[in-house]
Amino acid sequence: MRLVLVGPPGAGKGTQAEFIAAHLSVPKISTGDIFRANVTQGTPLGVEAKRYMDAGKLVPDEVTINMVRDRLAEPDAAEGFLLDGFPRTTPQAAALDKLLADLGTALDLVLELVVDDDEVIRRLSGRRTCRGCGKIWHVEFDATLREGVCDRCGAELFQRDDDKPETIGARLREYAEKTAPLVDYYGAQSKLVGIDATGPVEDVTVRAIDALRSYG
Ligand code: AP5
Ligand code: ZN
Repeated sequence: MRLVLVGPPGAGKGTQAEFIAAHLSVPKISTGDIFRANVTQGTPLGVEAKRYMDAGKLVPDEVTINMVRDRLAEPDAAEGFLLDGFPRTTPQAAALDKLLADLGTALDLVLELVVDDDEVIRRLSGRRTCRGCGKIWHVEFDATLREGVCDRCGAELFQRDDDKPETIGARLREYAEKTAPLVDYYGAQSKLVGIDATGPVEDVTVRAIDALRSYG
């Protein structure tokens, strides 16, 4: 299955992507994760992307599209994938359609995680990420979280630079202006399914899998 997850920053895309990708046995491809790995490694791509990420802005389309094209050419993505955080603009969506059409295929479904701004701000403000395994935590909602340490691998937890309050506002504005139009773009292709992404993580996962079942 070729699936896209769309939704505002902090909607739970990364959290749900892990479960859904495992359920579908497809690779999870997160442009945010790829950019962050490049930032950590100090690659030229990472240096360029960091300027935008720290300001809560989207990385330019050309850079992002080229990066995704390379990733989708890897063998593990040949039979299916789950894209988390891409596409995020109409030109990115059009480029993805073209890329897949050239390969003789197309997206199956776009799953939209629907959450309001207040909940998003709450989620982003309390997010912690594991430096070792990448697991996503929340200081308020994860009862098992011991301050500073990942229960899964023992590594340190950190707060993302772009989760500062002033950057969160910029990211929400970028979403409303540049990413929200994708709802119409994919709606016109009859590929969009929206699910309520509030409530416990497990409940959202069940709604997501149900949506895939009805449309898959
Ligand atoms: P990216 O990493 O994609 O960030 P984002 O879209 O802002 O999404 P987040 O990772 O912040 O949130 P999420 O929806 O994954 O939520 P999560 O599961 O972590 O992108 C970062 C930057 O990279 C961008 O700003 C841009 O600069 C650049 N970039 C990336 N892709 C790009 C593209 N295509 N084009 C251009 N630039 C691009 O959950 C959030 C928190 O909530 C966690 O703490 C989690 O534990 C908690 N939580 C999750 N679900 C629940 C629940 N049901 N109940 C309670 N808490 C929950
Ligand atoms: Zn860990």
